[in-house]
Amino acid sequence: MQITLIQPDDWHLHLRDDDAMASVVAHSAERFARAIVMPNLRPPITTTQMASAYRERILNALPESTTFTPLMTLYMTDRLSHDEIVTAKQSGIVKGVKLYPAGATTNSDAGVTDIRKLYPVLETMQREKLPLLIHAEVTDPQVDIFDREQVFIDRHLIPLKQDFPDLPMVFEHITTKQAVDFVRACEGRLGATITVQHLLYNRNAMLQGGIRPHYYCLPILKRETHQTALIEAATSGEPHFFLGTDSAPHPQHAKECACGCAGCYTAHAAIELYAEVFEQADALDKLEGFASLFGPDFYDLPRNSKTITLQKMAWQPPESYQFGKDKVVPLGSGETINWQLVR
Ligand code: NCD
Ligand code: ZN
Repeated sequence: MQITLIQPDDWHLHLRDDDAMASVVAHSAERFARAIVMPNLRPPITTTQMASAYRERILNALPESTTFTPLMTLYMTDRLSHDEIVTAKQSGIVKGVKLYPAGATTNSDAGVTDIRKLYPVLETMQREKLPLLIHAEVTDPQVDIFDREQVFIDRHLIPLKQDFPDLPMVFEHITTKQAVDFVRACEGRLGATITVQHLLYNRNAMLQGGIRPHYYCLPILKRETHQTALIEAATSGEPHFFLGTDSAPHPQHAKECACGCAGCYTAHAAIELYAEVFEQADALDKLEGFASLFGPDFYDLPRNSKTITLQKMAWQPPESYQFGKDKVVPLGSGETINWQLVR
């Protein structure tokens, strides 16, 4: 069995930098035409000038035969200026500003401490129609890790949506039924990305038989009822929901230790794994909309014209891939993947 799709894009990707980036970027470039590249480097990408230099480094690391367009983002800080937003928009290479609540996840210590302080720059972003990409989890230590997304909706997303009805927003990597319901109920330009790990797994995968650090990402995997709601949303054919892998490579030793980093590496087989989810839900006919159409429509970009073909044929990815001078362990390492990219 084969399926052919308009080439998909990845609307949420971590590529890292330097040698590490050079060793993973081909996985994304083989599958996706474009990707929204996250800015959480050290130091974070906070200006168009930095984004432009990072973009050049990515383009220079691509294998000869691939065409891949990195769509850049800026990292929102309390100090982002109006001028920088205008420069970013005019550059044509920056497609959004990423909001990380300070301390929410990997490399987010430079993030935002108080969303209300951002109101003046959000006004400018609304006027410029520059999307706000949101890591929607509160960092309040009083709030249980598993509830941080739904509390963020109540405390921050509802007010943000009310106060900035015309600001395009992406609710990144949604993980709960509450998020699905919120996105559906919203009017205006609100998109939501869904990762493949949140469709394939629930928290049992991370905790059954021992702690399995390669399933640990943020927002954390939730219980099965949420997984079911996410599968239903992704396969619904509703255009709010589109593909964003959040593939987030870390060196093996930084995952397999007493205080492991958050992030799952899925770029090696991303579209193949999504195909698996859609097939299991008997919704392969909905994959193209989710993977290839609704993202560009949201970002006001042309849909891709090339196609890719996947064939149903089992294969096993290696235990690890080279990652700079380290190794990265892919999600589901050792498991069989049923779909293969036809090269
Ligand atoms: C991401 C990373 O490693 O950069 N980790 C993750 O678990 N998703 C950061 C992020 O997007 O939260
Ligand atoms: Zn991410």
